[in-house]
Amino acid sequence: MRHNPPCRSGRRNPAMADVASISRHYARGDIAAGLLAALREAEGAEVPLTPWTLAPLDQFHGRGLDATAELAGLLAPRDGDHILDIGAGLGGPARWIAAQHGCEVTALDLIAEYCAAADTLTAACGLTGRVRAVPGSATDLPFADASFDHVFSQNAIMNIADKPRFYAEAFRVLRPGGAFALAQITLGPAGPPDYPQPWASDSATSFLDPPEAIARHAREAGFTLVALHDTTAACIAAQEEARRRIAASGPPRLGMHVLMGASLIPAMRNNARAMAEGRLGAFDCLLRKPL
Ligand SMILES: C[S@@+](CC[C@H](N)C(=O)[O-])C[C@H]1O[C@@H](n2cnc3c(N)ncnc32)[C@H](O)[C@@H]1O
Repeated sequence: MRHNPPCRSGRRNPAMADVASISRHYARGDIAAGLLAALREAEGAEVPLTPWTLAPLDQFHGRGLDATAELAGLLAPRDGDHILDIGAGLGGPARWIAAQHGCEVTALDLIAEYCAAADTLTAACGLTGRVRAVPGSATDLPFADASFDHVFSQNAIMNIADKPRFYAEAFRVLRPGGAFALAQITLGPAGPPDYPQPWASDSATSFLDPPEAIARHAREAGFTLVALHDTTAACIAAQEEARRRIAASGPPRLGMHVLMGASLIPAMRNNARAMAEGRLGAFDCLLRKPL
């Protein structure tokens, strides 16, 4: 049996087997070099490197930058705010928030390769010092209490089994009065989806909540639920639009397939079918830590 060391809080980190399975699903070789080469091949060697030009490659969720802009907008972030992005992936949303809203962003992710790639892409965009990648677990955040103005987490919670711990850690590191913007894929009424999905190769590392669980988890952690938006229809519309574009002009050169390879094709197909059949939904919510 593999040893699973207790974390700072005395609780156990995600089971090592889970970490290994999640890493197997997400991790790749020299990620940043591959993404930059693909971008230059598609857009020319002189393409400016910005959160906007990188967006087709580093926004790891449905509806790309539109979804990030909507979720970050819920926070109404101000210049100089310090935001924590939990499950930040390659740091695409974190860089965009830093550049668009003038914030400092700490981008935490479980996968060390993603954090290394995030730092390289951040440097390439000239944002070093404004965005910092930190390897770590959402259920044992390596930060002091009340150390962030806001918390942001986009489509990461589906990999996390211990939902109460996830919400409690976000609550702990947030300053009183601060807000938590959370996006997630939820379980629909029509039963579980087929796998693979974009966030999990199989059901062993996929932990989906029905939408009604969001308010309960939030309340139990101490949050006030400010807003809950169903974005399922927007996701379905974006998937239909992508299908039309592919039928008309072939697959795009840039997209999440550059990172994930051919394994993304069945995952995207299953995802679109599950959304259309009511097996999956998508929700954004805004939570606040009371003063
Ligand atoms: C679908 S990706 C989304 C990445 C990013 N939020 C975005 O939208 O571009 C989910 C991310 O959550 C991370 N993740 C999964 N479980 C985690 C955990 N327990 N702690 C921290 N990050 C985790 C994965 O490594 C992956 O990068």
